[in-house]
Amino acid sequence: MKPESALSVHNVSKTFGGLAVIRDVSFALRPGTRTALIGPNGAGKTTLFNLMSGVYGVDSGQICLNGKRIEMLPARRRISEGLSRSFQNIRLMQHLSVVENVMLGQHARQGGLRSLLLPVTGLFSSTARREAIAALEDAGLDIDPNGSVSGLPYGIRKRIEVVRALMSRPDVLMLDEPAAGLNPKETAELSEFLKQRARDGLTLLIVEHDMGFVRNLCERTVVLNFGHVIYDGNTASVQDDTAVREAYLGTKAASAGQEAGRAA
Ligand SMILES: Nc1ncnc2c1ncn2[C@@H]1O[C@H](COP(=O)(O)OP(=O)(O)O)[C@@H](O)[C@H]1O
Ligand SMILES: [Mg+2]
Repeated sequence: MKPESALSVHNVSKTFGGLAVIRDVSFALRPGTRTALIGPNGAGKTTLFNLMSGVYGVDSGQICLNGKRIEMLPARRRISEGLSRSFQNIRLMQHLSVVENVMLGQHARQGGLRSLLLPVTGLFSSTARREAIAALEDAGLDIDPNGSVSGLPYGIRKRIEVVRALMSRPDVLMLDEPAAGLNPKETAELSEFLKQRARDGLTLLIVEHDMGFVRNLCERTVVLNFGHVIYDGNTASVQDDTAVREAYLGTKAASAGQEAGRAA
């Protein structure tokens, strides 16, 4: 039987040096859905991605991918199990070409003997290269695959990262601010591209500040504030939610809470 959620987190918490950065976070993503994870700066969005992808271990709680517990697995194993991500700050290898950077994403899915043999199997390598070039074309990236990544505009490099993250053929793709630095045309293209991937069954979780992009792409939004989920529902109604408005406005409720705390 197919699990109902592609990815789920259950009561996940994390502290850094005594500071509770993620507090009892739970949500579940159904296969093929597109969900945004938003919240003010410092809310814990990137930390949650790091916990889910295995950069950090959780202090408590569970993470399930396709119904299977993964919170104890190393990052690499989570990728081969079907969870892939991009990073808020670009992490391309400056000394490698565009296509070589994309091919790095393929190694992540193989593991074991096949990845050990990868460098010596010439035929396989040329297949891999063709596959990487096709993926760049699919994503609408009209650039020289053999050119260096270092001179390319920021928006293009961000999109190469998305293509690379897809090379492991994930079931779930998490993107940390994919539209940051993209122009309106690139943003619209990325949105269409991701919608098509979701139609093919990919589950998306996207951290993004560009609310136009979020409204266009994600039917559901989860809002984090101080490491806690304060909203989980339709993207269309997120801006009408009082707790969300207060979190972003910096905030009447929080200062009222502090006053109440002082008075108590
Ligand atoms: N490795 C770490 N060590 C200590 N504190 C951290 C670490 N990573 C993140 N934090 C803290 O966790 C909080 C949430 O950060 P982050 O997850 O980057 O927020 P967001 O991505 O929502 O802007 C911040 O206060 C940040 O300083
Ligand atoms: Mg962040």
